[in-house]
Amino acid sequence: MVPTTKLNNGVVMPQLGFGVFQVPDLNECEAAVTAALKAGYRLIDTATAYQNETAVGRAIQKSGLRRDELFVTSKLWVSEFTYERAKQGIDASLQRLGVDYLDLYLLHQPYGDVPGAWQAMEAAQKAGKLKSIGVSNMTPTLWQKFVPQFETIPAVNQVEFNPYFQQQPLRQLLAAQDVKLEAWAPLGQGNQALFKEPIIQQLAIKYHKDAGQIILRFEHQEGVIVFPKSVHSARIKSNRDIFDFELTSTEMAQLRALDTGKGHHDPDAPGVSEQLLHAFDVHADD
Ligand SMILES: NC(=O)c1ccc[n+]([C@@H]2O[C@H](COP(=O)([O-])OP(=O)(O)OC[C@H]3O[C@@H](n4cnc5c(N)ncnc54)[C@H](OP(=O)(O)O)[C@@H]3O)[C@@H](O)[C@H]2O)c1
Repeated sequence: MVPTTKLNNGVVMPQLGFGVFQVPDLNECEAAVTAALKAGYRLIDTATAYQNETAVGRAIQKSGLRRDELFVTSKLWVSEFTYERAKQGIDASLQRLGVDYLDLYLLHQPYGDVPGAWQAMEAAQKAGKLKSIGVSNMTPTLWQKFVPQFETIPAVNQVEFNPYFQQQPLRQLLAAQDVKLEAWAPLGQGNQALFKEPIIQQLAIKYHKDAGQIILRFEHQEGVIVFPKSVHSARIKSNRDIFDFELTSTEMAQLRALDTGKGHHDPDAPGVSEQLLHAFDVHADD
């Protein structure tokens, strides 16, 4: 069984799941989610912007699993960040996924009319369409800019996180408000340098695990929620198989020492806001 954690609103969620970023081919996405559900994953992380919610929905419907056995996350894109557009965007995600509620829904990027979109999220939560609501890509600066205006404290903040970028200042801020950190790029998006780190290779040999499993186990022991992506069934299975061993406190300290304090994506960097606000409009075909 995958261990669970309790969010700040009392909702229980799995601590490991399956992500589907950069799987635009709908058949490939459906096959990958089907393989993940067969391998025992119950948390699936998608987004409006990934343009594969319909494929995730198809895999869910064909799985034969009960809705309450699953934990489905999706995200609202920035082109839907006004109160009215967000209300429609939430309903559109539900429709594409073929579900009548989402377990968790996130504001994908912290730009544009964030307060307006958040109010629509709060309304949808009150209406029972969203069990939990959260944010993504909020640095401490962006968190302090927006969250004090919110009535509801986000349940999670989904940010880049892996041994090279351990988000120490943000984790302190979130812990103080009982907000869970979810990792995107938990495997560094397949970063070979990370897999080849000597300490990760040594621990893989010691525990008869692969480098990916050592990385994911480290993150799990750090209390971070992970959902590695893969379209290969062997990796889908191995990435889930991290609950039968435990890294020692010395090993955890050795892995913490890999932190560079920097990621690939800096949400605070000049120009990022404008770039993402104009990246694409999910209503372009309306
Ligand atoms: N909120 C956001 O802004 C945001 C941004 C990015 C991602 N996310 C979410 O976070 C999820 C995970 O992040 P991610 O997909 O960017 O990156 P990731 O899970 O860190 O890495 C995925 C990459 O690693 C490879 N891989 C998977 N398992 C492996 C293993 N055991 N050994 C070696 N390589 C392996 C995959 O290749 P194969 O598929 O070929 O196996 C893929 O290229 C996403 O799918 C998405 O749900 C959110």
